[in-house]
Formats: sequence, structure tokens, C-alpha cells
Amino acid sequence: MKIFEENESTVRSYCRSFPAVFQEARGVELIATDGQRYIDFLAGAGTLNYGHNHPFLKQALLEYIEQDGITHSLDLYTNAKEAFLETFNRFILKPRGMEDYLMQFTGPTGANAVEAALKLARKVTGRSNVLSFTNGFHGCSVGALSATGNQHHRGGAGIPLSHVSRMPYANYFGEQVNTIAMMEKLLDDPSSGIDKPAAAIVEVVQGEGGLNTASAEWMRKLENLCKKNGMLLIVDDIQAGCGRTGHFFSFEEMGIRPDIITLSKSLSGYGLPLAVVLMKKELDQWKAGEHNGTFRGNNHAFVTATASIEHFWSDDSFARSVRAKSRLLTERLNRIALRHGPHSLRVKGRGMMLGIACPDGEIAEEVCREAFRKGLIMETCGSNAEIVKCLCPLTITKDQLNTAMDILEESFAEVLNKHISTRSS
Ligand SMILES: Cc1ncc(COP(=O)(O)O)c(C=O)c1O
Repeated sequence: MKIFEENESTVRSYCRSFPAVFQEARGVELIATDGQRYIDFLAGAGTLNYGHNHPFLKQALLEYIEQDGITHSLDLYTNAKEAFLETFNRFILKPRGMEDYLMQFTGPTGANAVEAALKLARKVTGRSNVLSFTNGFHGCSVGALSATGNQHHRGGAGIPLSHVSRMPYANYFGEQVNTIAMMEKLLDDPSSGIDKPAAAIVEVVQGEGGLNTASAEWMRKLENLCKKNGMLLIVDDIQAGCGRTGHFFSFEEMGIRPDIITLSKSLSGYGLPLAVVLMKKELDQWKAGEHNGTFRGNNHAFVTATASIEHFWSDDSFARSVRAKSRLLTERLNRIALRHGPHSLRVKGRGMMLGIACPDGEIAEEVCREAFRKGLIMETCGSNAEIVKCLCPLTITKDQLNTAMDILEESFAEVLNKHISTRSS
């Protein structure tokens, strides 16, 4: 570990929780240099929905490289981009009645896509304020960070984070409080102090913020509120998209049509950086090159993204398998929560974006540490990092899922039993 500690900035984070040097990865498994094998329930924080080095995607990439396919091309037209545009249109947009959305390739991170989405909304509406939500996470560049709730990340900005009004997310104050009605009143009142917003940016399932979920009804009401106030609805599907909830988009079947959608993380399918802003056609008011970037659209990522869409999204079978696995995962997590009922563990999330809320961050951290010792990599999320989060590749088999859940169950039992005996001694 010395080489990393001596040469890498203290800003490094995940590697502190999982102190191993990794060298190989296949499917749901990561293998360290000492030969130790780990089941990966971190999966690049939602970047590896199809697992590590999926053979079909790897083959497509190897063939493209072997033929001296273009690697870097700014935003020049390439056959790799052409194939992606065609495939994404054919298997993702068209079947969902979304063929009127255009694609803007931004710099390759999620934050890049969020920056572009916010800029576009402000440009189109001529307004600067944006609504974002409690516990929302949208990235760490300054514009995206303004919309992000987490104080630890916000503290790193070094300048005031502005032009965002924070609103309570669905059920933020519990089920009895209608947060849409609250927003409506604030927006209707010319003296509320909330400037008319350009947009509302929202995650349908909050990935980093604690696996909080918005219902279809809440999302529909938010869409109506946006329409009524001339605001654009931006769905940040960077973590919850690309199949994570059991559908390609997290908002599918909710009956909404966001004005702008951001995607990144699992879009390339292979862990290669790629981000896109999808926008309704009439919103495309950019001047050529107005939002720029050297690494917009990465050809290797286009190749694997195209392969992943052909392989997993040409029919509904993959999405159905994700929903079946979600039922199994929910069952296993509920079993853990019930077994330790007195500790008030609670299962949270939707689809394959699930976790267990612990009474505090200390317990969640200890559970993850114990799971790592037993060969399972998983992280925490939530306001106080109190949620143990399962974000495994969606390609995981039933047996692998059960093995991982056995480890998690043992880890919870050991940590909670230790807490009970410490308290009673
Ligand atoms: C919903 C959401 N938006 C944006 C981002 C930022 O993406 P990136 O870390 O690639 O900048 C993340 C990252 O976790 C995210 O979960």
C-alpha cells in the first residue's frame, strides 16, 4: 500500500475502505494480487451493470482495436458513433416512444453531463435558479455540486455554491407531508423568496443520498409542477439508469416525459467513460461548440455501448431477469432485517438498487469491513453513511447472489452480536 499512500493525494477514497491491490476482474468477481477473490457489490458505483470484462463487449472492443478503429476524434463523425446512434435509437428510444429526443455527448463523466444539462436549461429558459432536492447527488464539479446536498462534498468547493434552491425530496418529512404541495406554495407565492427556476433536477432513486425513492405519483406531480411554472424537468439517471431499476430508464412506466435526461456510468457497459444528455428536440438551442470538451464521445465506449445495447436490450428478457433478481435480493435483505428486528434495520431502494439502513454509520461501516474480510465488497451511502448498499452487476447469477447474501447475513450477525455484548458488559 506504501506506493499509493506516498504518491497519491489524500483525496483518494474507496481504496481506503478496500485495502487490496486488484489485478483481474471477471463478471461479478475482482481478484487481488495476493489471489484473494472478492464478489463486487460496489461495481464501480453503478458503472458495471453488465459486470467486469463481459466477453461479448470485450470481443467487440478487441475487434475494433485490431482493425485500427478510431480511438479519439473530438466530435467528428465516426462509424463507431454512427452505430451507437442507430442502436440506441432502435432499441432504447424508439420502443419507448422517445425517438424525438436528441443526444448531446458531453465530457465523459456524470458531472459533465449534469453541467451541460443545467447550462442548457438556464439557456433555454433565461432563468438562473434551479430546484434540486435534499440528499440529491449530481457530481462534484462546481455547477453539479451546487445541486448536490452532501456537506462533505460541498465543503470542498471553496466558493459559494449558488443559483440552486433546495427542496424536500419525496417523503423527506415522512409519508404524511406532501412535499409537492410545499413546493407549489413556494412557487406560487411571489414573496416566498424562491426565484422562478429554470429546472428541477431529480434522481428517481437517490443513489448516493440513501436509496430514497420517488413514487410514480410524486414524479407525475413534479412534472406537472414544472409545466405549470415553465420549468424543465431534468431526470439524472446516471446511477439509476441503464437497467438498474429493472427497466432501462428509472422513470419508465411512471407516465412522465422528462425534458432532459442525463446518463453516464453504465452507458458504455464496460466501465469506459461515456456520458450523454438526452433532450427534447425543441430544447436543442446550443450554438455549435458552445458547450465543448476534448473527450466528448469516446469511440471505444461507443463500441462497447453499442454491443451492450444489442446484447441486453434488443428484447425484454434481460430487464425481466433483473426484476426477478430484485425479488430475490429483496427477500434476502428482508430476512436480515427481520432477524435483527430489535436493531431497527430497514430495507430501502428499488429494483437492484437496494440496501439496508442501519441505526448509524458506525454499524454500517463495520458490516462493510466485515463483509470485505469475508470476500464481499460493498459500500455505504446516505446522509450519515448509515446504509449498506448492494449495487452488484445485474448479470449476477442466483447462486452468486445467494453466496453474497450469506456473507452479508453473517457479517450483520457478527457486528450486531458484538454491539449487543459490548453494550451489556
Ligand atoms: C445520480 C448521479 N449523478 C451524477 C453523478 C456524478 O457522476 P461522476 O462521478 O461520473 O461525475 C453521480 C455519481 O455517483 C450520480 O450518482
